[in-house]
Amino acid sequence: KAVHYLVMLLLAVIPIPVMEIYKLVSSKLKRKEIEPTWENAVKYIDDIAGIRIICSFTTDIYRIATVIEAQKHIKVLKVKDYINNPKSTGYRSYHMLVEVPVYLSARVENVIVEIQIRTIAMDFWASLEHKMRYKYKSEIPKALSDELNDCAEVVSLLDERMMHLNTQIEEG
Ligand code: GTP
Ligand code: MG
Repeated sequence: KAVHYLVMLLLAVIPIPVMEIYKLVSSKLKRKEIEPTWENAVKYIDDIAGIRIICSFTTDIYRIATVIEAQKHIKVLKVKDYINNPKSTGYRSYHMLVEVPVYLSARVENVIVEIQIRTIAMDFWASLEHKMRYKYKSEIPKALSDELNDCAEVVSLLDERMMHLNTQIEEG
C-alpha cells in the first residue's frame, strides 16, 4: 500500500525508534477503543503521515497555507488554527489535514497527511514542551506547565516583535 511506503520513508528519515511509533499508534487506537491492527491504524489515524514546515514569521504561515490550498491535487480536509486559538497547554501552530494522491503504477491511492506549519520560535517551544511531557509521562507538574504556558505567551510576543522588525526592514 502507498501508506506503507510513505511510513517506511518517514521511518527512514525521522529518527524515532520503530517501537516508539508502534506504541504511539497502538495507544492512540486503544484510546479510541479500536483494535490495534495495522489496517485500523491506516483507517482511523489521520496523523500517521505528517510533515512540519518551519518558517520565520507568523505571516509566512498563512502565506504557506494559501499556497497549499491553491494546489490542484491537494484537498484540504480540515484546518486547525492553534495560533489564533492556542491549545490549553499554550501550543501554537497551524495544522492542515490534507489528502494527497500517490500515483502507483496501476492505481492512485489517496493518503491523508497532517501538515504542521509553525515559526522557529513556536517550534522551539513545542520541542521543549514535548520533551518535558515525555519525561513526566504526560503529567507535567502544575508549576512547570504554568511556566510553560507563560513561556508560550512570551514566544508569541517575541514572534510579533520580530515580525514588526522585519516589516520595518522590508519597508527600508
Ligand atoms: P484532535 O486530533 O482534534 O483530538 O486533537 P490533537 O490533540 O490530536 O491535536 P491535533 O490533531 O491538532 O495535533 C496533534 C499533533 O500536534 C501532535 O502529534 C503534536 O505534534 C502537535 N501538538 C498538539 N498539541 C500539542 C501540545 O500541546 N504540545 C506539543 N508540543 N505538540 C502538540
Ligand atoms: Mg489528532
